[in-house]
Amino acid sequence: MKILLLGKNGQVGWELQRSLAPLGEVLALDRHSTEHCGDLSQPERLAKTVLAWQPQVIVNAAAHTAVDKAESEPELARCLNATAPAALAQAAAQTGALLVHYSTDYVFNGQGESPWQEDDATGPLSVYGQTKREGEQAIVVSGCAHLIFRTSWVYAARGGNFAKTMLRLAAERERLTVIDDQFGAPTGADLIADVTAHAIRASLQQPALGGLYHLVAGGETTWHGYASHVIAQARLLQPGLALKVSDIAPVPTSAFPTPAQRPLNSRLNTHKLQQAFGLTLPPWQQGVDRMLTEVL
Ligand SMILES: NC(=O)c1ccc[n+]([C@@H]2O[C@H](COP(=O)([O-])OP(=O)(O)OC[C@H]3O[C@@H](n4cnc5c(N)ncnc54)[C@H](OP(=O)(O)O)[C@@H]3O)[C@@H](O)[C@H]2O)c1
Repeated sequence: MKILLLGKNGQVGWELQRSLAPLGEVLALDRHSTEHCGDLSQPERLAKTVLAWQPQVIVNAAAHTAVDKAESEPELARCLNATAPAALAQAAAQTGALLVHYSTDYVFNGQGESPWQEDDATGPLSVYGQTKREGEQAIVVSGCAHLIFRTSWVYAARGGNFAKTMLRLAAERERLTVIDDQFGAPTGADLIADVTAHAIRASLQQPALGGLYHLVAGGETTWHGYASHVIAQARLLQPGLALKVSDIAPVPTSAFPTPAQRPLNSRLNTHKLQQAFGLTLPPWQQGVDRMLTEVL
């Protein structure tokens, strides 16, 4: 089986290079790839890559993910998050490929306290959320076979992440202030990549499984709960670690004004995915603890 992977060096893309490898021949591209175009800012050339290489599966892990920057460059964000996925979807519809794509909790307006279901009304608060929603819609409208996974609060051991930032600040300061009115589930890029590989196998055998799914780790927390867990767990794992922090103060979102508005309720209901694919999504702490063991 031939699998085209776009965004190979992102958090999820990197883990997909590992999880997709046993499924077949993976052509992994980034925006700098030369022989085949993997640049989402060039949708027409991207479509040509699909038509020329004829993969059975296309996995798009690339996106404009700089949420605040997207507010000041909406055209680029729209090209990467909506126009390019639309071009991929049209090429997939033409060749019969399965398109796998990722979206976000930011398609919702963040109201209420219930975990969002796949068919709940969307209401993005930011350019990022709006353009990701447009990308989802373009894929559905194209009629191509697809899997769209909405995820949230993604972290990976490789590169920078929220946990590493908290640990650095905890080493420098006695007091940290962390947002405690946004709710969601930190989700490991490794979990997303593993579930993706399972879901690809299952939906190639049973095409009716195609569609839109919520994919996040189990449970819920706030950024404050997440930071507190990371610091407590780091102290457990490495009692000798020099962490100055003694006060982790909860603050509202309004304490950290940003160009893009974030949803307060980012809880995603994953019942549909777990039922459809017979999978269990482990509690968020499990993946975070594993990542901490790797990075400490
Ligand atoms: N991160 C989160 O918390 C989060 C939450 C919800 C949903 N998601 C979604 O999950 C998916 C994976 O996100 P992630 O966390 O792995 O993001 P990431 O680490 O920021 O990776 C995004 C990748 O897209 C690439 N990219 C940017 N512009 C490109 C272009 N013009 N052409 C080709 N590639 C380009 C980036 O390449 P460079 O490194 O060269 O810039 C990067 O490798 C995305 O669809 C995202 O919207 C993420």
